Amino acid sequence: MTIALKGGTVVNADRSFRADVICDDGRIVAVGPDLAAPTGARVIDASGSFLLPGGIDPHTHMQFPFMGTVASDDYYTGTAAALAGGTTMIIDFCIPGPQQSLLDGYRQWREWGEKACADWSLHVAITWWSDQVREEMGTLVADHGVNSFKHFMAYKNALMVDDDVLMHSFSRCRELGALPMVHAENGDIVWLLQKALLEAGITGPEGHALSRPPEVEGEAANRAIMIAGAAGVPLYIVHTSCREAHEAIARARANGQRVYGESLIQHLTLDEGEYRNKDWAYAAARVMSPPFRSKDHQKSLWDGLTAGSLQVVATDHCAFNTAQKRMGIDDFTLIPNGTGGIEDRMAVLWTNGVNTGRLTPNEFVAVTSANAAKAFNIYPQKGVIAPGADADIVIWDPAATKTVSAATQHSNIEVNVFEGMALRGLPAITISQGKVVWEGNELKVQRGEGRFVPRQGTAPVFEAMKIRNELTRPTPVKRDPSVHVTP
Ligand code: URP
Ligand code: ZN
Ligand code: ZN
Ligand code: ZN
Repeated sequence: MTIALKGGTVVNADRSFRADVICDDGRIVAVGPDLAAPTGARVIDASGSFLLPGGIDPHTHMQFPFMGTVASDDYYTGTAAALAGGTTMIIDFCIPGPQQSLLDGYRQWREWGEKACADWSLHVAITWWSDQVREEMGTLVADHGVNSFKHFMAYKNALMVDDDVLMHSFSRCRELGALPMVHAENGDIVWLLQKALLEAGITGPEGHALSRPPEVEGEAANRAIMIAGAAGVPLYIVHTSCREAHEAIARARANGQRVYGESLIQHLTLDEGEYRNKDWAYAAARVMSPPFRSKDHQKSLWDGLTAGSLQVVATDHCAFNTAQKRMGIDDFTLIPNGTGGIEDRMAVLWTNGVNTGRLTPNEFVAVTSANAAKAFNIYPQKGVIAPGADADIVIWDPAATKTVSAATQHSNIEVNVFEGMALRGLPAITISQGKVVWEGNELKVQRGEGRFVPRQGTAPVFEAMKIRNELTRPTPVKRDPSVHVTP
């Protein structure tokens, strides 16, 4: 399959330029002015459009067994929805339970992921610590294409780990050249606040937000940053939702620490007022952790994207339908945590980011694909339009409009948290692995067409940090017991 994209403007993270793009056999083979279309190629007129690297969402949970149920988008429906929205790769989470072998968990998730119709990869969560976990982390990096490990500082009595586990695992990540990630919320305090709120008679979704105030997230972000500093590793903080956590990241970076901050499109555009909606199902559909915040927190996140102290916009796509959410009808702590967003991320960010001047189109590409590709060490295979890269391209129509509606979405649930939002700037065509998979508002995908993308350890940043760690290594003071300088 050969495709020639003629007359568009290539938008990479570093610059924009007029160029034609030729894709062949799943790869980009040429980028330049006035390229002749190879014989037999499908020629697509891209004039007036932007050619963007396919979106990468590095934070999704397809088919995730969580809080007594399983997320309703599986790897097929979830990646189909992704492609309809211009996202051509997801990095999902394999989350083995405490005491479970990481390798067993990994094999289980690989099997679930086989039905994906877009490229995908896996982070692996560390939910307990032992010599076996330590060993298996090494095997995952050496043999299975995993170079990032996630840690939950919340979800007490389920997935949460303490500082001791964080320090062990972060140190192991340093040895392996793997990137540690954290869900930063103080799970002990959330637990106690949940109990107090229930005792005070607050059982509805508003209790969810009240039990997870920004300070609880800020404290955990600061703690994770401190532990990463002590372990001598970079750190990636997922779903940064508030000013406190963003400022912790910005401060750490100003102090020379390599900390990456991910924001979510939901936290950028939706606020805590949603949890006070009189319709229980409406409010419950928005329950996710961390919760939506006030406008002041949203402003801080936008400022972070503009300034570069936050580098990624993801979705944490974890779709539950109303029937699933009803598990918590009498107790907000039992509402499965998670919202969708993968189909809307690119267009909602373009509308609210590029159309408002908060982001340039190049910055948009940085936060929707290039920065994640660099952090997770798959750049320039992904995240750029250049010869040799995978042919994952979005033909972006900046003038196209639509109104978000669950009725027309591809995700497998009946709600959409962005319902009614007016968008300007949409993916007209999505090309995945060199094939047109989304065009004319229609998906042309097949189960299992997505490939598992292995990721190597030791991104360049680890080499640099190894040198720094060596140069700043603690040293003992050599003393001669016979020397006395004090009287
Ligand atoms: O509420 C959320 N975010 N659900 C998915 C699990 C997680 O914490 O990322
Ligand atoms: Zn999380
Ligand atoms: Zn998540
Ligand atoms: Zn002495």
